[in-house]
Amino acid sequence: MNKSIDMICPICGDTLNIYDRNLSCLSNHTYDIAKQGYVNLLPVQNKHSLNPGDTKEMLLARRSFLNTDTYLPISQEVIKTAKILLQSTPCRKIADIGCGEGYYLEALKHSIDNCDCIGVDISKEGVRMACSRDKDISWVVSTATCLPIETNTIDLITAMFSLVAENEFARILKTGGHIIEVTAGSNHLIELKQIIYDNVFHQSKKPASIGDAFTEISCDNHTFTFTLNNTDLVNLLKMTPHYWRIKKEHREELEKTPQLTLTADYWIRVLRRK
Ligand SMILES: C[S@@+](CC[C@H](N)C(=O)[O-])C[C@H]1O[C@@H](n2cnc3c(N)ncnc32)[C@H](O)[C@@H]1O
Repeated sequence: MNKSIDMICPICGDTLNIYDRNLSCLSNHTYDIAKQGYVNLLPVQNKHSLNPGDTKEMLLARRSFLNTDTYLPISQEVIKTAKILLQSTPCRKIADIGCGEGYYLEALKHSIDNCDCIGVDISKEGVRMACSRDKDISWVVSTATCLPIETNTIDLITAMFSLVAENEFARILKTGGHIIEVTAGSNHLIELKQIIYDNVFHQSKKPASIGDAFTEISCDNHTFTFTLNNTDLVNLLKMTPHYWRIKKEHREELEKTPQLTLTADYWIRVLRRK
């Protein structure tokens, strides 16, 4: 648990003091640090299901797929952007919200000097897996819509293919702090969708408009192609919501496909806190 990230109690909002085995506020709300190193700061009242977020099966597939570094160009673009945004910030505090099993935050932390990082995801399984990537990152189970992070303390938020909770992001960011938001573009994994769905309608996908607390600094589309073998293709399918919608015959077709060339199409948008 990184003691340089200022955390707050998800129940009363008071400062959380970090001890070796737990986090605790003045009102004595206490949260144990799990043996893997993460802390669960998702009270039942903020949970809308028993095990919210991505499932273990999705996360194992995501980890196997991401560990092939097929999405390294995405990670590298985010790191390049983060380095520019943080160049005049001496001690950098970074929060990756919806961090999944931690692939992007691990890469970011190892590429940015002098930074303290927190990874947050609503999926306990994801956060548990993320711990094995870097013990010096604070890995926390929480919802993006009620973040256990002190107001006005974060320099950079990354939201990689995950929810942008505008109000909470505005609250935890310092004035002049940034969000790097990565979202899927219109042709993202289009070749996979063409196998899964009988009709693929062209949707023009762009990041949604954002509230008054932020100024949009840039919004750029990026594409590249990559070829997957059957194992990685099935992992890619399992880590997406398409997996839950696919018909049996289409899944069987995919499971027999020896390799497939796919398009990665994504937006990187940078927002600055006013
Ligand atoms: C598409 S995945 C992306 C994961 C990771 N950023 C990546 O790209 O590998 C979206 C993630 O958001 C998490 N998530 C969904 N709703 C959330 C919420 N309300 N608060 C925090 N995380 C959430 C899911 O558990 C999942 O890990």
